[in-house]
Amino acid sequence: ALERTFSIIKPDATRRNLTGKINAKFEDAGLRIVAQKRIQLTKAQAGEFYKVHAERPFYDELCEFMASAPIVCQVLEGEGAIAKNREVMGATNPADAAPGTIRAEFAESVGENSVHGSDAPETAAVEIAYFFSGLELVG
Ligand code: CMP
Repeated sequence: ALERTFSIIKPDATRRNLTGKINAKFEDAGLRIVAQKRIQLTKAQAGEFYKVHAERPFYDELCEFMASAPIVCQVLEGEGAIAKNREVMGATNPADAAPGTIRAEFAESVGENSVHGSDAPETAAVEIAYFFSGLELVG
């Protein structure tokens, strides 16, 4: 089915000027960027976005990192977009990511792993609504 997923190009990637190279990977895989904006989160906003991880040992570091430089938030649309995006990103830890994936090519570590993508339809809907209004989604 035609799906939408939420994506973030993270601070390690915007710092290294990799937005275009990462977007090319999405587009080459058949994902359409139907919304996109570059913003810089506060640590509190990053904390709210990642609140499911609040009890994890890396939570504070994760929030600091996500607020450390601009991010690019996106909505990607396509057939099976959630799974397709996860395939293009590769495993969370770049050491485990398949060759050719975004994380294999660009990520620096498990924390600074260049991209985030929603893991399920329910989280995609919540994450899209956190960053975008309906008017900003232009299929
Ligand atoms: P993401 O898909 O954005 O969702 C949660 C993030 O937590 C994950 O990508 C990683 O960047 C980060 N993360 C997961 N495990 C660790 C870890 N062991 N140390 C630091 N950050 C982590």
